[in-house]
Amino acid sequence: MTTRVLTGITTTGTPHLGNYAGAIRPAIELSRQPDVDAFFFMADYHALIKCEDPERVARSRLEIAATWIAAGLNPEKVTFYRQSDIPETTELCWMLSCVTPKGLMNRAHAYKASVDQNTEKGEEPDDGVTMGLFSYPVLMAADILIFNANKVPVGRDQIQHLEMARDIAQRFNNLYGNGEAFFVLPDALVDDDVATLPGLDGRKMSKSYDNTIPLFEGGAKALRQAIMRIVTDSREPGEPKDPDSSHVFALYRAFATPEQTGKFRGALEDGLGWGEAKTQLYELLESIIAPMREKYNQLMADPSQIEAILQAGALKARKQSGDLMTRLRRAVGLRSPAASAGGGKKEKAKNRSARFVSFREDGKFHFRLLSAEGDELLLSEAFDHPKDAGQAMTALKQQGPQAMGQCHQGVWHLAWQGHVFCRLSDEQMNAVALVIDQLNQEAD
Ligand code: TRP
Repeated sequence: MTTRVLTGITTTGTPHLGNYAGAIRPAIELSRQPDVDAFFFMADYHALIKCEDPERVARSRLEIAATWIAAGLNPEKVTFYRQSDIPETTELCWMLSCVTPKGLMNRAHAYKASVDQNTEKGEEPDDGVTMGLFSYPVLMAADILIFNANKVPVGRDQIQHLEMARDIAQRFNNLYGNGEAFFVLPDALVDDDVATLPGLDGRKMSKSYDNTIPLFEGGAKALRQAIMRIVTDSREPGEPKDPDSSHVFALYRAFATPEQTGKFRGALEDGLGWGEAKTQLYELLESIIAPMREKYNQLMADPSQIEAILQAGALKARKQSGDLMTRLRRAVGLRSPAASAGGGKKEKAKNRSARFVSFREDGKFHFRLLSAEGDELLLSEAFDHPKDAGQAMTALKQQGPQAMGQCHQGVWHLAWQGHVFCRLSDEQMNAVALVIDQLNQEAD
């Protein structure tokens, strides 16, 4: 059994060392497992919620894509794409919005934090809150559900969003599924072993604290300069250090082998100076980052390579999202428009209309009407001659069942030239009338 693993990164910034160790590196490792079917994407629609600078959004999604590829993502194995290249995501987002209770969204942490801040400042509670921010979890649910992901690697701050995605999926399944589950209920995958790196000041490395170490930006020089700014205690060279309270050590350990880490620990305990310790950290990081940086720079110098990879990824992804969307439209009562770009031939075949089918059995002639889903809506009784069966069928197609029917005690008798060829309940009659109407509309 393969597990579908899906995750996205919001494209508002430039990846730093913390993003690499905390999200990109573990996701790529996971994607290499043979039983994992990974979907990774740039959440560029989500970026619009936080960032109204088009240049920045455009640059960020390029940088993040290049970072993933440079970090070793294999686009042949992973389905790697931009959220905004999958129109089914926004389409599904609307369908989900229509089954999502507003009260559920009122409880979202990000929204509540904005309201709390406003209240503290004496502002209107919803001041500065857009519908995008408010509905953020619905869009995220659509990202996940459109591909029926089983596992979603995320940080702790996103667990609530996964719970909401499950909740929304369940509601939709119950409302429209008719016993069929359109959506898999996804699980958050929160890995406690994944390194949360300290930033320069020892708090969690994060752009909002302005304490990050760049991954590729500014090259080796910027990496070294940032490392030299890591806060340490004031112990002199020669004085024993406590590795477990040192940010330099925590960063070193996140990238070193156990042997290297053991040696580094010993050296600090033996009095290694902070300056020298930082140089060792720099050398370790540079040995890991340099080859990736080279690949990154090469990709950024020719973004058409990235574009080609993402276009191929979108195509691969849309094969799935298109098929599911066709089923969902039908389920909610919206007939699918002629197969759109993503689906191709296969979708068209699945998307066929209701149809009349004639057949021969025991030397007699019948016809039936099948729904688009292939359910039998009407089965004729036997005609002795194929011509009569054909004419009855044509008349039914052209005139509709009412014109050929009479109701006797709640049962409709459909007749052709005095010969009753079918009996239907009121309900069956309605279904047949509806489908024939639709067929005629499609024909003209
Ligand atoms: N909200 C996620 C974050 O900020 C990004 C994201 C958007 C995402 N859609 C997703 C993550 C779907 C996992 C699955 O980190």
